[in-house]
Order: sequence, then structure tokens, then C-alpha cells
Amino acid sequence: MEIIHRKNEVRTIIKEAKTRGKIIGFVPTMGYLHHGHISLIRKAIADGCFTIVSIFVNPLQFGPDEDFQRYPRDLVRDLSMLKKEFVDVVFVPSTDEMYTKSHLTEVRVPVISEKLEGKFRPGHFTGVCTVVAKLFNLTSPDKAYFGWKDAQQLIIIKKMVVDLDLHIEIVSVPTVRDSDGLAASSRNKYLSEQERKKALVLSRALQKIKEMVELENITDSEVLIATGKKIINSEDVELQYLEAVELENLEPVSVIKNNTGILGAIKVGKVRLIDNIIWE
Ligand code: PAF
Repeated sequence: MEIIHRKNEVRTIIKEAKTRGKIIGFVPTMGYLHHGHISLIRKAIADGCFTIVSIFVNPLQFGPDEDFQRYPRDLVRDLSMLKKEFVDVVFVPSTDEMYTKSHLTEVRVPVISEKLEGKFRPGHFTGVCTVVAKLFNLTSPDKAYFGWKDAQQLIIIKKMVVDLDLHIEIVSVPTVRDSDGLAASSRNKYLSEQERKKALVLSRALQKIKEMVELENITDSEVLIATGKKIINSEDVELQYLEAVELENLEPVSVIKNNTGILGAIKVGKVRLIDNIIWE
């Protein structure tokens, strides 16, 4: 496994792998890896890719009052996890390497970036799209892997790829959950034991909705959302949103069917958590 820090090293290694006929699979991360990331990496390796993982906590996607400074970081642990997975290359750039002091350009996917998460984290997805576009340019992947856990991010990246004519297949991978049902996330580390118990209310509400749709054939969004909200509001957490939407454009839907999903966010103490169920 090669560990590299410079943009020109990425270009050289990728060019060389391509001349050997390799399919490049790219997994962008902000580190502090968990089994959600590992499922993306395993998918890339199972697809036969020459696999490159990036670890970069991207300052552009954090708001001024958000957790950029305290975002969990543990490079030694991350690298040892990646080595066990037989990743080919890990790209760990510094902030100065990624962004020159005079950096100005942004990649913005309006409308869908402003809904749901966008209402609570203005500018977040512009930060995500800008860094992902730069990482795509550096790694020139054939395939890039994203988890359904960050459903809105995945939908926005897919749109960016189509709109910018990027020749990259975006591969989506199901959400990975801990045994108690909590969706895997680096931010789960912030939760105390008691907060973690409270946080489970989101996956519990989504699970109940899933059963109503799939076992009882209830597809009326209003009924489903009302049930979900009642469950969430029974716990000492702040419900930020729970919405039934079309997966392509994140427009509200009145009936759950294929290509719709229910996306939600709660705040437990100071920790924001998101989760969803999707019908692909
Ligand atoms: O999902 C994440 O971890 C980040 O948003 C990403 C895609 C690595 C961009 O910084």
C-alpha cells in the first residue's frame, strides 16, 4: 500500500496504473474510518479496481460554527485498517496541498443542495462538490464509491457528474449499521453512552416506517411521516427534519414508491445525526 501526500504523486501513480490496464476505483473519505467506509472499499476491491482512498478533512464543507477543528482524526489507525483491506494507494493531502492560498473556484449544484441538510448547513454541499470535483480530477477514477447513509450527498454528486460530463460511474453502497441499528458515522464518536441510546430513536422510527411500507402496504407519506415524527418526538432529541422525497431531485412526494426515500436528521445534545431509508 502506497501512502502519498502530493497531487503530482497521485497523477503519476494513476497514470502508471492505467497504462497497466487497471480500472481505477476511488473512495473519498475524511478519515476516522468505520465499517461504512470499509464496505465502500470492499466493494471497490470486489469490482476488481485498483483502489485509491483519500483521507482529507475538507475545511470547505464545514460551517463557521461546525466541528472542523474537533472532527475525529486518527491517521495511524486509519492506515492500519486500510492496509488490512489491501488498498493500493492512500492519498493524504494537507490543506495547503489541496487549496492554494488564492483558491477561489467553487462547484455548486443549486436547488438540490439547498434542501434538507442544506437548510441546516448552508454552503456544505458546495464545499463537498468542490473537493470531490478536485479529487476526481486528480484521481481520474473509472468508478467512485459513496454510501447511501449520506443520501443527499450521493444524489448531488451524481447530478454533478452528469452536469459536468464527468466520465465516472458513481457506485452507491447500502448504509452499514451497528448491531443496535445506529447508522455507522465518524460523528458517532461524539455520543456519550446515554446520548447514543437517545440517538437510536431515528433508526427506530425509520425501521417502523419501513415495516409499515413493506409489510402493511401503507404508502401515504403523510401517515408515514406523522408516525415517524411521533416516535422521534417521544425521545429527548431535537427533530430537524423528516421528509419523504423523490430520490433524483429531492422534491417532496405524497406516496412512497420506487426511487423515493425518507430522509431525516436529529440533534442529540450537540451532535447532529442523519439517516434514511430508500426504495431504489
Ligand atoms: O462523505 C464524506 O466523508 C465527505 O463529504 C467527502 C465525500 C469525503 C468529501 O469531503
